[in-house]
Amino acid sequence: MKIFPLILLFIGCVLMQKKGGKEIATHELPNSAIEVFEKFGCKDCHTLPPTGFTEYGKEMISKGYGCVSLQSLALKHKLKGEAREVFIKNGCVKCHDLDGRGFGDKNLTSFGLKINERNLGCVGTFKELLGEVK
Ligand code: HEC
Ligand code: HEC
Repeated sequence: MKIFPLILLFIGCVLMQKKGGKEIATHELPNSAIEVFEKFGCKDCHTLPPTGFTEYGKEMISKGYGCVSLQSLALKHKLKGEAREVFIKNGCVKCHDLDGRGFGDKNLTSFGLKINERNLGCVGTFKELLGEVK
């Protein structure tokens, strides 16, 4: 009987740890451009060095769903239908606001702001990668 609350406490701790672990994983800040490139969806469309495109990336170009085009649609509050889905599916929403109401002219989420502080945004990442691989 006396051990029951202890067991509950133990289960509670295990659950909290799991939840905590997940929390950290989704908000983990990258430390380098290559980490951004590999963990934040860039590599699905871009190749290394970041001057070429994957097959999927080429398909996105043909549909007009590149970074610049998607962001400009977001800023005009015109991210609808398939373009909206691409923006969500490819993880832009982690750093940019889906409805173009993010911080500043880069339309950033609060996570995006932190990335920006590290100069690991889209342009920052590409600049670093181009310098690294050259
Ligand atoms: C859904 C495909 C897709 C994903 C995912 C994607 N990009 Fe792009 N990106 C493109 C395409 C296509 C272009 C070129 C056409 C355009 O911008 O509209 C582009 C353009 C860019 C440019 C401008 C390049 C230039 O020459 O002006 C930068 C910088 C960039 N992407 C960085 C990134 C980074 C960093 C990531 C990951 C955080 C990323 N992209 C993820 C498709 C993608
Ligand atoms: C890991 C966070 C992150 C992800 C994911 C991300 N971006 Fe960015 N992006 C930024 C930050 C921060 C900036 C501003 C600083 C910079 O460009 O280095 C930026 C800049 C841009 C710019 C350049 C804006 C300008 O005016 O120069 C475009 C366009 C853009 N992002 C589009 C996208 C699109 C579209 C996606 C999804 C395919 C995407 N980004 C994914 C963080 C991100």
